[in-house]
Amino acid sequence: MTRAARVIVVTGASSGIGRATALQAADAGDHVVLVARGASTLEVVAQECRDRGAGSVMVVPTDVGDDAAVAACFAQVVERHGVLDAVVHSAGVVAYGRTEQIPADVFDGVLRTNLIGSVNVSRHALPVLRQQRAGSLVLIGSLIGHIAVPSMSPYVLSKWGVRALARQLHVENRDLRHVHVSYVSPGGVDTPIYEQAATYDGFVGRPPPPLAGPEKVARIALKRIDRPRARTQVNRSNDVVRMGFSAFPGVFDRLIGPLFRVGAMEVTTPVAPTTGNVLSSVEAGNSLHGQQGNPYVGIVRNLVALARRRGSRGSAA
Ligand SMILES: NC(=O)c1ccc[n+]([C@@H]2O[C@H](COP(=O)([O-])OP(=O)(O)OC[C@H]3O[C@@H](n4cnc5c(N)ncnc54)[C@H](OP(=O)(O)O)[C@@H]3O)[C@@H](O)[C@H]2O)c1
Repeated sequence: MTRAARVIVVTGASSGIGRATALQAADAGDHVVLVARGASTLEVVAQECRDRGAGSVMVVPTDVGDDAAVAACFAQVVERHGVLDAVVHSAGVVAYGRTEQIPADVFDGVLRTNLIGSVNVSRHALPVLRQQRAGSLVLIGSLIGHIAVPSMSPYVLSKWGVRALARQLHVENRDLRHVHVSYVSPGGVDTPIYEQAATYDGFVGRPPPPLAGPEKVARIALKRIDRPRARTQVNRSNDVVRMGFSAFPGVFDRLIGPLFRVGAMEVTTPVAPTTGNVLSSVEAGNSLHGQQGNPYVGIVRNLVALARRRGSRGSAA
């Protein structure tokens, strides 16, 4: 049995998880609305969606941190389609550095996109869904929204906030049986977000294992439209890490520094401080997948680099 094409807004649609979501929705013949800041990569994705059989494609370049722009975006969608079936909110950015290392505008920029952006999208999507008395909002959170890690201060705060927002929205929308908010929490995903990040820590990050493809997270996000679930952890390993954080805080805090450095940073090559794509889009860096390769090979490279550094410090002393 074929189902009717749905109208799905995807934020962060020009790269990574959002891009994979838009393409899979297009495969299913849905009407896709593509949202991100950079217009030209959105046009590339729009063509990919048309080629894959989307019911229709609408490109609405929007900064999710700008409340008025988000309001205008949803008004355009309703005007064009008369209905909104679902929103998959995937726009996000990262900055590396300790709390005191990251300049205020970059720190605030991460909170603005990740947390305030999620609030803005919810603020303008939910009234439409509630008026229809049906529809789904899927918020992409993160394992980092459940734990603390070194060097990702604003990202940690923003993703704890997204998790809190999802919980708040569950409470607020209990009255309408067919209006759903689902929270999806990935671990490491092979996307360019790490290479696109602002960094003040001397090194870029990399996705830690076990690595999921953006396609897997997209499949889960789209499944949550029809089969909503309040909370989904993408990997079982997320539960192990979350349990370690909550049940053994002393051990967790002692181990997370070295483990993070080896498993979630690229310590082989120092990099100069950069604002990355936090303050504005870096369109050349947007793509479906990241380019950092196998995470286990990355770990071995890191261990070798750290051992060499320790060795050269030893011989200098
Ligand atoms: N990759 C991972 O390992 C991982 C793990 C856990 C959670 N997540 C979460 O998954 C989501 C998607 O991340 P990803 O890995 O797919 O990242 P990505 O490949 O870098 O894609 C991010 C997307 O967000 C858009 N964007 C950034 N700032 C925006 C803004 N202010 N307004 C509108 N669009 C904006 C980007 O386009 P423009 O720059 O052109 O706007 C791009 O389309 C994020 O919420 C991230 O926190 C990712």
